[in-house]
Amino acid sequence: MILLAIESSCDDTSAAVLVDDEIRANVVATQQVHEQYGGVVPELASRAHQQHVVPVVEAALKQAGISKHDLDAVAFTQGPGLLGSLLVGGMFAKTLALALGKPLIAVNHMRAHILAHFIEEPRPQFPFLCLTVSGGHTQLVVVRSAFEMHIIGQTTDDAAGEAFDKTAKLLGLPYPGGPHLDKLARQGNPTRFPLPVGTMPGYDFSFSGLKTAVLYFIKKETAKNPDFVAENLADLCASIQHTIIQTLLRQLRRAAADQNLTQVALAGGVAANSGLRQALQDEAVAQGWQVFIPAFQYCTDNAAMVAITAKFHYEAHDFANQLVSSDPRLKL
Ligand code: KG4
Ligand code: ZN
Repeated sequence: MILLAIESSCDDTSAAVLVDDEIRANVVATQQVHEQYGGVVPELASRAHQQHVVPVVEAALKQAGISKHDLDAVAFTQGPGLLGSLLVGGMFAKTLALALGKPLIAVNHMRAHILAHFIEEPRPQFPFLCLTVSGGHTQLVVVRSAFEMHIIGQTTDDAAGEAFDKTAKLLGLPYPGGPHLDKLARQGNPTRFPLPVGTMPGYDFSFSGLKTAVLYFIKKETAKNPDFVAENLADLCASIQHTIIQTLLRQLRRAAADQNLTQVALAGGVAANSGLRQALQDEAVAQGWQVFIPAFQYCTDNAAMVAITAKFHYEAHDFANQLVSSDPRLKL
């Protein structure tokens, strides 16, 4: 089985080739154009996808040593994401599948983040609990099979990635701020500045209070000392990161206990956060969990996770037709 997968839901254009169980290529072109605007500009994102999609697909096929005529199916991200971005990958995949006379597979981006755990060993067994934390989503999901997933908790306002990016912006860090904040936090004291942990009923999350608290705290301290942020940058980063991690862990702990699940998986771009990865490993020891965290390149947006998800669809003979439309609000 040879699958080509294309991911274009946000600001990364990616193509991957899966041969049986093995990812032979996973090429990602990250768009730099958004950095100067401090956030993803949808119109620029779709234009950049148009420029990148052909060279990225060609590079993936070349790296895998595969001709497009060898493909058994072409998969693409149907949603959720930015409509203009999704349309570029979707139209490309449909056209290629039509021209080659190959089946088409439509993949849900959020499922793909979760099923990224099946790319490499160790792979979790169904059922497991997955915390998906990205720039657009924060979801606690009970994963019963590749096709049966139940969201039991989610954010009521900002996503965890947004909480990182927006607070990092307040500290004057470049966009996207998450990785910068993570790096600086390593030298800081996480308990130096106590910040509010958003408390929500059930397994839901709230991060907008943290952003506001950081904004007012910085304003107050900067009025007394204009260099407050610069002088305390590492401690501010560590304290913010600690608060986000504690917010995530509290709900995760409760959900795992209530659902009686001991396999706990982390997915999405924020899974790259070194503090979160370490905290989860520590929690695993304390709670007796088995923790699964994909390799870094499979946490952030990538087509390998779309390819592995497409494999489940392929094996279930679950194909899309040419009438399938991109859906920016596609549900899990
Ligand atoms: O999954 P992803 O690549 O794209 C979305 O679908 O959103 O996630 C991107 C998010 C951004 O908010 C980015 O700042 C965050 O993941 N992120 C991190 C780290 N690496 C990426 N946040 C905290 N620490 C990191 N090391
Ligand atoms: Zn994503």
